[in-house]
Amino acid sequence: MSNYHIKQFEEYYHVYRKSVRAPEQFWEEIAEEHFYWRKKWEKVLSWDFTKPEIKWFEGAKLNITENCLDRHLHSRANKTAILFEPNNPDEPAEHISYKQLHERVCKLANVLKEKGIEKGDRVCIYLPMIPELAVSVLACARIGAIHSVVFAGFSASALATRINDCDAKMVITSDGSYRGAKTIDLKGIVDEALDDCKGVASVLVAKRINSDITMKEGRDFWLQPLLDEAYNDYTAEVMDAEDPLFILYTSGSTGMPKGMMHTCGGYMVYTAYTFKNVFDYREDDVYWCTADIGWITGHSYIVYGPLANGATTVMFEGVPSYPDFSRFWDIVEKHKVTQFYTAPTAIRALAKQGTAFVEKHDLSTLKVLGTVGEPINEEAWHWYNENIGKKKSPIVDTWWQTETGGIMITPIPFSTPTKPTYATLPFIGIQPALMDEHGDEIQGNQVEGRLCIKYPWPSIARTIWGNHQRYKDTYFSAFDNMYFTGDGALRDEVGYYRITGRVDDVIIVSGHNLGTAPIEDAVNEHQAVAESAIVGFPHDVKGNALYGYITLKGSSEGRNQDNLRKEINQLITDRIGPIAKLDKIQFTAGLPKTRSGKIMRRILRKIASNETDQLGDTSTLLNPEVVQSIIDNAL
Ligand code: PRX
Repeated sequence: MSNYHIKQFEEYYHVYRKSVRAPEQFWEEIAEEHFYWRKKWEKVLSWDFTKPEIKWFEGAKLNITENCLDRHLHSRANKTAILFEPNNPDEPAEHISYKQLHERVCKLANVLKEKGIEKGDRVCIYLPMIPELAVSVLACARIGAIHSVVFAGFSASALATRINDCDAKMVITSDGSYRGAKTIDLKGIVDEALDDCKGVASVLVAKRINSDITMKEGRDFWLQPLLDEAYNDYTAEVMDAEDPLFILYTSGSTGMPKGMMHTCGGYMVYTAYTFKNVFDYREDDVYWCTADIGWITGHSYIVYGPLANGATTVMFEGVPSYPDFSRFWDIVEKHKVTQFYTAPTAIRALAKQGTAFVEKHDLSTLKVLGTVGEPINEEAWHWYNENIGKKKSPIVDTWWQTETGGIMITPIPFSTPTKPTYATLPFIGIQPALMDEHGDEIQGNQVEGRLCIKYPWPSIARTIWGNHQRYKDTYFSAFDNMYFTGDGALRDEVGYYRITGRVDDVIIVSGHNLGTAPIEDAVNEHQAVAESAIVGFPHDVKGNALYGYITLKGSSEGRNQDNLRKEINQLITDRIGPIAKLDKIQFTAGLPKTRSGKIMRRILRKIASNETDQLGDTSTLLNPEVVQSIIDNAL
């Protein structure tokens, strides 16, 4: 069906118009023709953004793993589903065929059942980028358990928070992980986390680094012996389209991370359809997304989207700099990668190394390049286009979010003319709107506003786990009858969108979303700290970096500041993870506040960004005098 694979720009407009004029009919056609359902839906869509409640394909029955695995077995049994590239380039890559993946998933599904996991139970997965991670995700989906993958760079305390928030009954982890030349003691982190998680009955441990770890009797089990004993088939649990598929935590501007909950039917349809079109996927392609499965990009575009299309998806365990900065290009050449999807921060880090690492490699198999996670600056875009794509591979700058489940604004390769730093046009079925500060929609082009979406799409998150009110407050309260993204955007003279960045207290550092409040909470735990405020400032590789303004308690003012900085960053590492460490810490006598006592972050942001000429009026502050002293001592 032509609607399923868009190949021309005129066709994009034609299909787009159809998708917004009659969304239900449109998605029904896509769902019906391209997926395997145990039972068809009774209603395509019901929605109410005021409650908010969104349901797609209500009454339909399916199992997403039958779409990702079983249905490929007759025609693609021996085709590589997952191509695993280990951290160490001397270790051979592993080609896992659809048949083998199906077997591995079924075996683990049997193990999960045997350990008492039932449909609807939550299973926390804390694993490095090894095949067991994808297998665990799919095994949960196979039995109807809700997976909650936690990125294996989070600390014990961040892990414990996420385990407890969703009451996970089980954790799947490994003895450790490789990261370039380093190893990380993952099991040790899990042990520490579980001291605070009383609901976890069992821990399955994959062997990866052969380290000497402690196994707690009755709770911890090595995975491999259990798999060896397990039966290699498992009849997939029949799920309702609206049953939860997974929870994935994302940072909010305040408090606890938000457990975004995605459901089975709509998520499958949308991630598969976007994958096919955004990457112009063809049967013999070798697709590689460098994200970690611990983030939404990995869920949707390493696991579910590619496998639902019967694709070969590369899983890379390592980092771009190990053994040297040519590793990405070495992998592209070795596996003849056709689509390459990465983050601007990686592009900037690699561009900094010059082109010598690139030139050694044959990148001629590449057809489509992708970027995601933060705005891509013009320089990085051109470097990517010239040196990696050799000006012949279109760059798809894909804008989306954990909450949206799939890509929302993006060029369609070989169809939409690209424009550096622009995510360009809404994907099929997506109806964006720019809103002004009075809550009115801004019409026309060459305008800027807050980015909202007017109409539901199949993979929108349905709630925040255990806190529907917060879901409503965060996404559906800023503007009437709209999903608010938290991003600002502009629309140019032809209607192309450019994302300008977050408009809330979320800062994207190296493509990772970080809420300032939880970091401030960690800093404030230090016994010497009276108060703190954290803001972002531009960084040439990370996009943004973190600047902390900290006032000390009177009794601690004489303490060695370098030691304090180290202790504070250690505390952040313990509470959240190394990704949230502060790049700059300035100790200040006070923080600028409004008369009602609110910290004026806008001023601190300007000082951190070295834009002190744009501070605006500070005379209405409660304590205007602190501003000058902060400027004088800025780092
Ligand atoms: O600010 C936007 C930015 O990343 C945020 C979503 O982060 P997360 O939920 O972690 O998901 C990242 C991967 C989908 C957005 O609100 N963002 C994502 N993609 C882009 C982007 N900003 C600009 N351009 C993009 N292509």
